[in-house]
Amino acid sequence: MSILVCGGAGYIGSHTCVELLAAGYDIVVADNYYNSCPEAVRRVKEISGKDFRFVEVDLTDAEKVEQLFAQNPDIDSVIQFAAYKAVGESVGKPIEYYTNNLATTLTVLAAMRRHGVNNLVFSSSATVYGDPEKVPIDENCRVGGTTNPYGTSKLMNEMMLTDCCKAYPEMNVALLRYFNPIGAHKSGLIGEDPNGIPNNLVPYIAKVAVGALEKVHVFGNDYPTPDGTGVRDYIHVVDLAKGHVAAIKKLEQKPGLFICNLGTGKGYSVLDVIKAYEKACGKTLPYVIDPRRPGDIATVYADPTKAKNELGWQAQYGIEEMCADSWKWQSMNPNGYKG
Ligand code: WQD
Repeated sequence: MSILVCGGAGYIGSHTCVELLAAGYDIVVADNYYNSCPEAVRRVKEISGKDFRFVEVDLTDAEKVEQLFAQNPDIDSVIQFAAYKAVGESVGKPIEYYTNNLATTLTVLAAMRRHGVNNLVFSSSATVYGDPEKVPIDENCRVGGTTNPYGTSKLMNEMMLTDCCKAYPEMNVALLRYFNPIGAHKSGLIGEDPNGIPNNLVPYIAKVAVGALEKVHVFGNDYPTPDGTGVRDYIHVVDLAKGHVAAIKKLEQKPGLFICNLGTGKGYSVLDVIKAYEKACGKTLPYVIDPRRPGDIATVYADPTKAKNELGWQAQYGIEEMCADSWKWQSMNPNGYKG
């Protein structure tokens, strides 16, 4: 039996492949390298010392996806990471984002139905909570009020999958709502490799630390938070990857629809993260205070109780390790996978 990892060459996908292989699962990775590269897949094999099947495929191509399932009849579960993910870009390209982010899941779902594959883990986001009604955020908080097509596409995927669970009682779906994944594998061989100037905080800080960008721009210091800067629940990508292994095990118990936050439950401000990164890289990192970024909210962090009780999963790493491992990846690979 094996697990199909859609988008398995990407940042979270590649780390999840490493943890699935370490847990003894066979995997089939499918990716079109839209936002990833063959080197990431090669390095997953290097870290794990294991080989696995890789299929280069656009997961919106129904014929090719059918072939993929037909040629790999041992697939019994799917993890669906394949999606466009840039929040800012999605605002200007709604058609591309809705088309791709819905069609990948729908195409894979249709093939799963034809081949009797019933277990799916979906890569969702805390962004589905919009401006949260309370913090810490638990899974019963209302969803909606997303402010960009990327976030809305995650919510629409959740709704589609919820309807599938109603229509097909044999299906088991885990909707995993990630908070802010950062860091990299301890080996420094795989990590986040954004195109161009990073939009997210930690990849941006990493570029400043490595000397590729001049200074960090802190978006606002007048939020109602202890130091005025935005507070987020940063989670080590290896912890997140292990959360997927726990979700796969959960689906083996046939829970139907299972919704779960993956976060640490702790919030750190932008200035906390800059300080932790300075400690990790041993340099002072220059920063300036800029105006607030439109659409940002003051404080977001998870209530991780459900994951602990029902997945038996809990984040192990703190902000120091997240920054140290991000720095190891960044300093070993100043230009990412491009060498
Ligand atoms: C974190 C904090 C910024 C950059 C986004 C998506 C979300 C999710 C993860 C996937 C905020 C501040 C940032 C910078 C800064 N993706 N910041 N200077 O916005 O919490 O979440 O990525 O689902 O959907 O919205 O993450 O890393 O962009 O920002 O001061 O250069 O850092 O204002 O307080 P965010 P982020």
